[in-house]
Amino acid sequence: MTVVHLQKAVPRVDGPLKVTGQALYAGEFSVPDLAFGFVVNATITKGRLLGLDVSEALAQPGVIEVLSHLNRPKMASYDESYTDMDAADGKPFRPLYNDRILYSGQPIALVVAETFEAARHAASLIRAQYSEEAHATDLAQARDQAHEAPMELPENRGDAPAAWAAAPVRVEAEYHSAAEFHNPMETHASTVIYHKDGKLTVHDKTQGVQNSAQFVSSIFGLSEGDVKVISPFVGGAFGSGLRPQYQLVLATMAALQLKRSVRVTLTRQQMFTFGYRPETYQQLKLACDRDGKLQAIDHSALGITSRFEDFTEMVLVWSASLYACPNVKLAYQLAALDVYTPLDMRAPGAVLGVYALESALDELAYAADIDPLELRIRNFTDVDPAKGKPYSSKELLECYRQAAERFGWEKRSMAPRSMREGNQLVGWGMATGVWEAMQQPATAKAVMNIDGSLVVASATADIGTGTYTVMTQIAAENLGLPLDKVAFKLGDSTLPKAPLEGGSFTVSSVGTAVKLACDQLRQQLLDAAKEMDDSPLAKAELEQVVFADGGISLKTDPPQHVDFTAILKASGSPSMETLASAEPAEERDNYATGTHSAVFVEVKVDEDFGSVQVSRVVTAVAAGRILNLKTGENQVAGGIVWGIGMGLQEEGMMDTTEGRWMNHSLAEYHFPVQADIQQLEVIFVDEHDEIVNPLGAKGIGEIGIVGVAPAIANAIFHATGKRVRDLPITLDKVFADELLH
Ligand code: MOS
Repeated sequence: MTVVHLQKAVPRVDGPLKVTGQALYAGEFSVPDLAFGFVVNATITKGRLLGLDVSEALAQPGVIEVLSHLNRPKMASYDESYTDMDAADGKPFRPLYNDRILYSGQPIALVVAETFEAARHAASLIRAQYSEEAHATDLAQARDQAHEAPMELPENRGDAPAAWAAAPVRVEAEYHSAAEFHNPMETHASTVIYHKDGKLTVHDKTQGVQNSAQFVSSIFGLSEGDVKVISPFVGGAFGSGLRPQYQLVLATMAALQLKRSVRVTLTRQQMFTFGYRPETYQQLKLACDRDGKLQAIDHSALGITSRFEDFTEMVLVWSASLYACPNVKLAYQLAALDVYTPLDMRAPGAVLGVYALESALDELAYAADIDPLELRIRNFTDVDPAKGKPYSSKELLECYRQAAERFGWEKRSMAPRSMREGNQLVGWGMATGVWEAMQQPATAKAVMNIDGSLVVASATADIGTGTYTVMTQIAAENLGLPLDKVAFKLGDSTLPKAPLEGGSFTVSSVGTAVKLACDQLRQQLLDAAKEMDDSPLAKAELEQVVFADGGISLKTDPPQHVDFTAILKASGSPSMETLASAEPAEERDNYATGTHSAVFVEVKVDEDFGSVQVSRVVTAVAAGRILNLKTGENQVAGGIVWGIGMGLQEEGMMDTTEGRWMNHSLAEYHFPVQADIQQLEVIFVDEHDEIVNPLGAKGIGEIGIVGVAPAIANAIFHATGKRVRDLPITLDKVFADELLH
């Protein structure tokens, strides 16, 4: 029996189920008599739905019903009933609620049929009559109608405009970034199983089963216990499942109306009819003294939002915290357009704000003639200047050192266009990455069974991040069990309360609850062992024993051992259970917490074609204790790949005449394929942290993507001498104005 310790490269415990096709996703659960829904989406962008001609659709064989605002069952009318755990400020969108069209692609009807194909065909036969109104969907045109974002920002400090004006070295630039769509491999789906007693079991694609359960309950007036939401596997989400999506509402509506089980699956094109990373414009003014010490950071951001909600994210906080700087000014505005509300997407806000900040820092390095890495090192701070608190840990200097060494940064020549291989211009760029290290309240249950197996559970999710695996590791290590004796359960709304899986806080939040539940179970097991007849542990305290080999042993005399099975037998009950709630410790309040990274990128730019290839990325990450090197490296590498997509390819293109996303397919919305990914190296820097949580693990789901796009942009400047301030950096922009020759 081998005991697996944390930090080993443990393969995913759910891997075999996934690769053998046994893992079922939301749209794969089935029951006899299942009906299939297909959503009809609005083809105008703003106005009213005057009528729907559904006669031809209803006449098709196999068609059961067409639901719309005209004949839907009762839904809640108050906005509050539609709120959810990740809701933006404002009035949440209510699908099929009334005749108002708020954005192109809005769901206007659901066709329910005996087969998916019949429903889809019938949906194509529905004719909608609209009264159309003028819409605005162009952020560039709406810039002067923006309003202040309803979000508390770090306080301005010093006088950034004056300091900027007086500084010897300064830069000023505007950066633009395109909208991005999540595009998880699994499209959104909900299968609602209607039970004879009217209760529902909902298989939903979500990052929070309890969020989905509460959402549909309040919309349809169901009581607790009437709805159970299940989501054992999620085929990627990246934030797209943080808010319940309309297919959940429509599938539930149909099941309640027809008293029958219904599945609604969205197509890839329909995945472009809800949230996305917002398009932004950002202005940066940076200044430093002759030694490169930052004197001013003046950072403004403008993001897109909908007419009905104000989507805010942490775009600007990083500019106030990441570096030492006495004068900081921040401003955050939103422009409301006739579009759907944006939605959190992997490292929401940070990837955008850090893109602008780290690009401008590179420009400042050139203005000051200081190496870009050296400039960052000179402005390092281990106190968060925005909060005036020390970081609980911040091994960023070590990230710089290890990644630079691995990358070979010292061999870089400062001048742009100074490195080449044949007709390839070679560029080296770098950037800092940063993300939060948050913790949310969470609850977990641990059950020791009489056969010596341990089951731990919490209503969290595994969106591909490795939750099943690391929670199993935490529990196994705690009780000295091998991994195959431990099962972790998640994705069931009836399990102990957990936060949404997001923000990179699952390990910190749920992991801490799992540890706590297991700690309590250790104490209970020992207490029970002490009560046993002739117990070798009769006088032992927790510090004097070890949990190993399926039981408890005396540290000083290991053969003095009692098996868990024997303890359970003696206790007269088939299992022993603990339930623990973990909260962030008060001590955290005295510190700033965060994860950090240093990203180094090499690009090769074809001098004839302007095409860019990212030939090498080295990222060093400081994120506290890494629980599993394999899933951890996997997370960071995935983030880098997405960062390459953000830097070079991903762009939601709005047809501002139609008010519609044009490239709503994987053929036309580009992201990296295998051939785009060359050499990626991930380094985890040792970072010891006893403040952040009892595990010392900060979470790594998002840090990997932050800093990648600016490092690429900076490398392209180094390669070509051309500063492209507009993401994605497609080859037309590299070529713009003049040929590279
Ligand atoms: Mo992540 S955007 O918190 O799923």
